[in-house]
Amino acid sequence: MSQWPERERLLRKEGYVVEGIDIKPFPETMAGGKVQFSQIDIRDEAAITDHIANGKYDCIVHLAAISRVVDGEKDKPNCIQTNYVGTRSIIDAVAKYSPSTHVIFASSREVYGEQKNLPVSEDAELLPINVYGFYKMPLLRPIAGGSCIKKVTKR
Ligand SMILES: NC(=O)c1ccc[n+]([C@@H]2O[C@H](COP(=O)([O-])OP(=O)(O)OC[C@H]3O[C@@H](n4cnc5c(N)ncnc54)[C@H](O)[C@@H]3O)[C@@H](O)[C@H]2O)c1
Repeated sequence: MSQWPERERLLRKEGYVVEGIDIKPFPETMAGGKVQFSQIDIRDEAAITDHIANGKYDCIVHLAAISRVVDGEKDKPNCIQTNYVGTRSIIDAVAKYSPSTHVIFASSREVYGEQKNLPVSEDAELLPINVYGFYKMPLLRPIAGGSCIKKVTKR
C-alpha cells in the first residue's frame, strides 16, 4: 500500500476514479483524504467477490500479496491463502461478474528459480524454489488459458 497513493494521484490527474483496497486501514492523512478506500482481506472470498460484483471497474491492479520470499517461508499457509487463493478469488469474480475488467497481476521472477541460461526468457521452464514462487507460478500461465482472460506480459 505504501506506494499506491502516489499512483492514485497520477491516475486521478488523468481523470480516472481510483479506489484502493488493502487489508490494512488506510491512513486518513494520505493523499489529502481524497482516496476511495475499502479495507478488505482478499482471503475472504465472499467479501472480495461481492466487492467486484458490485463495483464497475475498468481495471484492477492486483498487487496485494505476501510479497517477501522470507515471509512466505515463515508462514506458508498464509502465503498460499493470500497469494494463490486470494488471487484466484479475484480472477474468478472478474470472470463471472465483470469479464470486461482488465486485471493486472504482479507475478515474480521467483517462478523461474535458479536458471542456467541468462537472461531468462519468458518461456523458460518454471522452477520455483520457495513457496512464494511456487504459488505465483500457477497464476502465470493457466490464467492465459482461461476462456475469459487474455494475457499480456510486461517486464
Ligand atoms: N517488490 C518487488 O520487488 C516485487 C517483485 C516482483 C513481484 N512483486 C509483486 O508485486 C506486488 C506488490 O509488491 P510490493 O513490494 O509493493 O508489496 P507490499 O508488501 O509493499 O504490498 C503488498 C500489500 O498487500 C497487502 N496485503 C497483504 N495481504 C493482504 C490481504 N490478505 N488482503 C488485502 N491486502 C493484503 C499488504 O497490506 C500490502 O499493503 C506483490 O504481488 C508482489 O508479490 C513485487
